[in-house]
Amino acid sequence: MGRVAGKVAFITGAARGQGRAHAVRLAQEGADIIAVDSCEDVSSLEYPMATEDDLRETERLVRELGRRVMVRKVDVRDQAALDQVTADGVAAFGGIDIVSANAGVCGCRPTMDLSDVEWQDMVDINMTGVWRTVKATAPHLISAGRGGSIVLTSSVVTMVGAANVAHYSASKSGVVGLMKTLSAELGKHQIRVNAVHPGNVATDMLFSESTLRVFCPDLENPTTDDLRERARGGDVLGQGWVEAVDISNAVLYLASDEARFVTGVSLPVDCGRRIG
Ligand SMILES: NC(=O)c1ccc[n+]([C@@H]2O[C@H](COP(=O)([O-])OP(=O)(O)OC[C@H]3O[C@@H](n4cnc5c(N)ncnc54)[C@H](O)[C@@H]3O)[C@@H](O)[C@H]2O)c1
Repeated sequence: MGRVAGKVAFITGAARGQGRAHAVRLAQEGADIIAVDSCEDVSSLEYPMATEDDLRETERLVRELGRRVMVRKVDVRDQAALDQVTADGVAAFGGIDIVSANAGVCGCRPTMDLSDVEWQDMVDINMTGVWRTVKATAPHLISAGRGGSIVLTSSVVTMVGAANVAHYSASKSGVVGLMKTLSAELGKHQIRVNAVHPGNVATDMLFSESTLRVFCPDLENPTTDDLRERARGGDVLGQGWVEAVDISNAVLYLASDEARFVTGVSLPVDCGRRIG
């Protein structure tokens, strides 16, 4: 019997990285999956987003586990598209029990040099996109009357502070405010709302040129080895980064009945970077 057997999980940013890992991990534990991703580059960002092939690979991996899966190209900035895929998912799978608002982007620039577009894209995707995801899905959880778990992806950067990521940090801090308010509002429906705060995670986002520059501003062409060396010194376990599945295991716990009385919390998975 899986830890989320018989439940349906809605996951944004699911074409690759942590979102794909969440889809696979939850499916391994018995959940059916509704997986969405924009699969579209953002012009103000310096690294590519996932592709439609990536999203199809997530679909294949979940199906291979014997779970039902629905994938759709949806941008979390598009409320109508989110509303539609949510309704279609509920019609196909009979409801939604777990929401992982995971889609997010990152960038690096000194605060005073940020353009209006860079600021706005970051806030629109990382913070407003989370609100839109919950706005699309939560009414279905409420009307079904069987409770549920909503997990919002923030970042450890909201707990430690870091230079050159004001737009990222502000948007991810906004997610914490959303989480706290939503947990207060939805508790009466037995819907729990929590946040995961990943430290460094080995995904395309971490290995993008702009993130490498956050860690190695003094190097002209920093590599992932340079990053690892510096990042290792930044956490008390000396790891530098974790794998996507380490975040998925935290999401799985918060999504499962093992966390049935856990709501309104921020859960860092950061090798102790906050306290180092
Ligand atoms: N990688 C890290 O070190 C790290 C650290 C802390 C927090 N996070 C957060 O974890 C989450 C997952 O990131 P990841 O590490 O898997 O990176 P990633 O870049 O591999 O994955 C992000 C996914 O989100 C999708 N996406 C981007 N904009 C979207 C939009 N507007 N609508 C729908 N989908 C969109 C991308 O196509 C991609 O598939 C993000 O919210 C990120 O901010 C990552």
